[in-house]
Amino acid sequence: MEYFTTTSNASRRAVDCVIVGVYKSGKLGAAASEIDAASNGEIRRRVKSGDVSADVGHCAVLTNVPGVKANRVAVVGLGKAGELTATAFRKAVAAAVKAISKSKTRSLLNGLTVEPVKECDVYYLARHTAEVASDVLYRFTQMKSGRKPAPSALREIGVSISERKHEKAAQLGTTHGDAIAAGVALAKDLGNLPANVCTPGYLARTAKKLATGNGRLTTRILNETDMKRLGMGSLLSVTAGTREPAKLIVMQYKGAGKDKPVVLVGKGVTFDSGGISLKPGPGMDEMKYDMCGAAGVIGTMAVVAALKLPINVNVVVPAVENLPGSKATKPGDIVTSMSGQTIEILNTDAEGRLILCDALTYSRRFKPAAIIDVATLTGACVIALGAHRTAVMSNNDDFQSEIVAAGETAEDRGWPMPLGDEYAEQLKSNFADMQNIGGPGGGAVTAGCFLGKFTDGMTWAHLDIAGTAWKSGAQKGGSGRPVPMLSEVLLRRAGALP
Ligand code: BES
Ligand code: MN
Ligand code: ZN
Repeated sequence: MEYFTTTSNASRRAVDCVIVGVYKSGKLGAAASEIDAASNGEIRRRVKSGDVSADVGHCAVLTNVPGVKANRVAVVGLGKAGELTATAFRKAVAAAVKAISKSKTRSLLNGLTVEPVKECDVYYLARHTAEVASDVLYRFTQMKSGRKPAPSALREIGVSISERKHEKAAQLGTTHGDAIAAGVALAKDLGNLPANVCTPGYLARTAKKLATGNGRLTTRILNETDMKRLGMGSLLSVTAGTREPAKLIVMQYKGAGKDKPVVLVGKGVTFDSGGISLKPGPGMDEMKYDMCGAAGVIGTMAVVAALKLPINVNVVVPAVENLPGSKATKPGDIVTSMSGQTIEILNTDAEGRLILCDALTYSRRFKPAAIIDVATLTGACVIALGAHRTAVMSNNDDFQSEIVAAGETAEDRGWPMPLGDEYAEQLKSNFADMQNIGGPGGGAVTAGCFLGKFTDGMTWAHLDIAGTAWKSGAQKGGSGRPVPMLSEVLLRRAGALP
C-alpha cells in the first residue's frame, strides 16, 4: 500500500473515494461539511432522507456527488459529537474500507483524520488508518486451488491533515501502521496455515527468511540434539510423541549496540492434540492456532526489522507438535527442565508451559532488559477474559502497567491478572519439584505461576492470548494479536514515537 498526506479540501482531491463522517444530532465532520458546501447540501439531504446513519459501523457510499472530484463519497457514522474514541474511529474506517473493497477504488482519502478523537493525535489516527485498512482487506487464500478471488483494487490511502505542521506525524503514523499491518498479516498467515504445512520446521524457515538480506537480524535454529545437550528435558518431553522434529528458533535483532535486549518468547505448538491427555474431538482443528504466540513474536520482530528500530530485540520460539504415540510422554512422567527443576507431568495437555519454561531458561543468556512470553496457554483465560482482552501477568507491577497501557494505546487491549504464592501452592507435587497443572481454580494464573518459577531475577511478563489470538465460528481466522500491543511497547522503548 502507498500512503500520502494532504491538506487539500476533501472535495478537491481527485481520488476514487473519500471517507467523511456524520455525527448524531446532525453535526457533520469537517470533511463532510466541506463536501456538503461544495455539493450544495447533498450530505445534509442524505442525512435527512435517512440514507446515511450516524451509528458507528454504518457506511453509505454515495456516487456522483456534484462539486466533488472523487468518484465516491463514503459517509460513515461517528456516533455522538465530541465523544469519538479511537475504537469508534477504527470501526468507522473499517466500515468504509469494507464498503468499497469490492469496488474499483484504487485511491482512498480518509477525511476522518482531522476529527477530534479522544486521547488520540494525528500520528495514531494515521497509524490506525493503515492498520485497519490492511486488517479489513486481509484474505487467506493460499490453500485454495483454482482461481482465487481478486484482491481488492485499493493501492493508495491518503490521510487528511488540517495543517502542514502535522505532516511529519501523519507520515510516521502511516509508516509505522504499514509495518505493524505487515507484522499482523504475517502472524495471521502463520496462524491460519494448517498444521500439516505450518510445522516447527516451517516456522523455522519463516524466521530464517525474515533475516535474509537484513544486516541487523540473524536467525539460528537449534535442533533436538542441541536441545538435549542444553538439558531441555521439559521441552523435549512434549515432542516425544510426534515424528515432526522440534526446533528452537532464536532471532537476534541488533539496533542499539550493546544495550540489553528485550526478549520475546512465543509458544509454538504447531498442533496441540493434548497428547496422551487427548482433547475432545469437536473444535480440535482450532489447535492449529496453538502456535499463535510464536506467530505474534515473529510478526513483532518483522515490525522491528522493517522499521529498523534503535533497540535490541531477541525472539525465542520453542516449536513442537503435541501428539500421542507409543513414545509420547505419559501422565505421571517426571522430567528435568533446563533449569534443573523437576516437573511431574500430570496432564500432557498442559504442554505450553513445558516448552516455555525451557525457552525462558535458555533466554537468561541474553541478560534481558525485560522478557515477555506470549502463549495460547489456557482455556481458563478464555473463560476469564473472553475474546476481547489478553491476560497480562508479571512479576513487576510497573512492567505490567507499561504493557497494559501500550495495549490501550495500540487498540490491542490487555488486562492485568495476578500472580502470587497462594496460587503457586497449587503446583506442589508429592514426587517432583512441581507439577504441571494447578487444579480447577484459577487456571490462567497457576499457568503463569508455573512460568514464574523459571524467571527469577528477570523483569518478566506473561501474555495469555488464548482468547485473543484467533476468532472462532463463521469468521474463523487468526487475529494477528498481540503484534500491535508488543509493537507499541517496543516503539515506546525505542523512543520512536512522536
Ligand atoms: N493450547 C491449550 C490452551 C487453549 C485451549 C487455548 C483452548 C485456546 C483455546 C493448552 O495447551 C491447554 O490445553 N491447556 C489446558 C491446561 C489444563 C490441562 C491445565 C487447558 O486450558 O485446558
Ligand atoms: Mn494443551
Ligand atoms: Zn496448547
